[in-house]
Amino acid sequence: MINVAIDGPAGAGKSTIAKAAAKKLNFIYVDTGALYRAVAYNAVKCGAIDSEPKIKEMLKNIHIELKYNNGVQAVYLNGEDVSAYIRTPEISMGASKVSAIPEVRAFLLDLQRDIAKNNNVIMDGRDIGTCVLPQATVKIYLTASANVRAKRRYDEYRAKGMDCDYEEIINTGKKRDMQDMTRAIAPLKQADDAVL
Ligand code: DC
Repeated sequence: MINVAIDGPAGAGKSTIAKAAAKKLNFIYVDTGALYRAVAYNAVKCGAIDSEPKIKEMLKNIHIELKYNNGVQAVYLNGEDVSAYIRTPEISMGASKVSAIPEVRAFLLDLQRDIAKNNNVIMDGRDIGTCVLPQATVKIYLTASANVRAKRRYDEYRAKGMDCDYEEIINTGKKRDMQDMTRAIAPLKQADDAVL
């Protein structure tokens, strides 16, 4: 199988490029952030987001699946398609928070590896080249300045009709990147053999 790993900070354009390339190559595009977002969504829903022990406990009762319809990924949480609910600023921060918990990462690891074992994939995330698929055929680390990335998010939210403030987006974006880069387990960083 051919596995392509794309890692980098939020808003660099990973999903845009991965989707386009996957379509052209007829590979499956796997957005791994959606998995962490689904965990965060459930944690917010059941009031566990501020408690690490509660989040760990919650993992016993959740089942997450990725399904593909004409190449479009949907994430299922306990049988419900939650794809439409996970793209909010609250869930972005929540996903970053739950992703620092080792048990959450372990919980989602096999799911990601199984898809890559059985399919040609372009997988995007933070630790794909360093941790999930260390043997990936191609590794890319995609980044852009904090301003460009914030502008991309701002335009995305505006296009969806969401109310948003550029300064707030840039500040929360920086905070989230810092959290993702400095966590103890599988932090965001360029793999030694990745192309920048
Ligand atoms: O790619 P995204 O913005 O949807 O990811 C949301 C959060 O999930 C991100 O801030 C950190 C976490 N994440 C991760 O830790 N590892 C991944 N492979 C993908 C996402």
